[in-house]
Amino acid sequence: MSLTVVANRVPIRQTDDGWGISVGGLTTALLPVLEEQGGTWVGMGEEPELSERQEYPADDPNFVVRRVPLSTEELDGYYYGMANQILWPLSHYLIQHLELNRDFIDTYRSVNERFAEAVLEETDGGGDEVIWIQDYHQMLSPGHIRAERPEATIGHFWHIPWPAMEVFRILPWARELLRGMLGCDLIGFHVEEYVDNFVESAETLLGAGVDGNVIRYNGHETRAEAHPIGIEVDRFKEMAHDPSIEEEAQKFRERMGTDNIVIGIDRLDYTKGIHSRMLAFEKFLEENPEYHGEVSFFQIATPSRTELESYQKIRREVDEVVGRINGRFARNSWVPVNYRYRTYTQYELCAFYRAADAALITPLRDGMNVVTQEFITASQDGVLILSELTGAAYLLPEALQVNPYDLNGLAEAIKTALEMPLDEKEERLEGLKQTVDTLDVHNWAGNFLDAL
Ligand code: G6P
Repeated sequence: MSLTVVANRVPIRQTDDGWGISVGGLTTALLPVLEEQGGTWVGMGEEPELSERQEYPADDPNFVVRRVPLSTEELDGYYYGMANQILWPLSHYLIQHLELNRDFIDTYRSVNERFAEAVLEETDGGGDEVIWIQDYHQMLSPGHIRAERPEATIGHFWHIPWPAMEVFRILPWARELLRGMLGCDLIGFHVEEYVDNFVESAETLLGAGVDGNVIRYNGHETRAEAHPIGIEVDRFKEMAHDPSIEEEAQKFRERMGTDNIVIGIDRLDYTKGIHSRMLAFEKFLEENPEYHGEVSFFQIATPSRTELESYQKIRREVDEVVGRINGRFARNSWVPVNYRYRTYTQYELCAFYRAADAALITPLRDGMNVVTQEFITASQDGVLILSELTGAAYLLPEALQVNPYDLNGLAEAIKTALEMPLDEKEERLEGLKQTVDTLDVHNWAGNFLDAL
């Protein structure tokens, strides 16, 4: 088999020592396959130093990075526009953020076509070729590739929620985008609920024939399947058990200076529910004065898509609520909310997971949420408070599940987590760890490629 991966971002980036691998779940899962079998990764490659066709690693190449260079206008329309101001908010049911601008879909169409052309140039249509396309940035390229290569094996993995049909049909281009996706042989989603939504969208909006999870349209069959993604479990376990992590965790506990530490770790995105979570913590402090000086909330928000107004707005809102809570409640050396707007390494995150008594992971919607799995793997006796509106919630019944819109419920869950008896914490965590072990990201990639 030779594999061609198509993703918005490329898996390498420039470091002080030349080109290196960029850290991330997808890269972790797919690079070993590419390295073993050879192949190509097609992506937009924002770094101008990247050549259009670069072999990696330079001294002993085992795969090719093929760049589709985009102009500023193309990046604006395709990535900031169609992907992040239309498909992203719609799929997360946050339609107040929708910007239905005609230029965005026009640019998305032409950029998807360019990605498809790059794939056609990199492949020769041989029988053992597999093309695996990633995420909502590329809904139309499968259709273009299929038109030129009727025999090709094409898969797609959709990493975010697929919304209910009645929400998806809000898009004026819903049918065109679905037809593009149906160029695939197999489309993967994290959970069955998204599979059902996709199948219903194809059936209702295109009149496609449906038999279980098989969709027949225009003489072609597409299967839709649930393949929940995981993390690199072994590497995470190893890191979590490194004695230096325990030291880091201890130092962090001392810096926080309270017996109880609650953490939140997210990209700064309006889907993540950071603002509501802060309001809930404020409510918790209002209702539980006995915890003043006894609990610290440590929230990391990693900068993301900072050029977009909706992301600048959520940043201002979080800054404001954090300032208000600390202004209201801080006493002596106690600061209730420790907020960090920056990026941390996985090693640093691992120490925070280890030190925390509870993690508040409460997105308003999330396709899966892998921070959840990292916390479960690293924690010894922490409590996971998890939004029921995430893909992860379907798989992790032992978590303390909450509705992220219900601030009272969230405030109560914080108290429940902090007061949970040790044996109950351990029992829940044990069940969670067992599930996370089976979700390993290498299994995810292997299982999807086998199914394809
Ligand atoms: C989500 C998407 C990914 C995306 C990531 C970071 O997890 O499913 O495709 O890469 O967010 O967002 P960014 O826009 O920075 O790539």
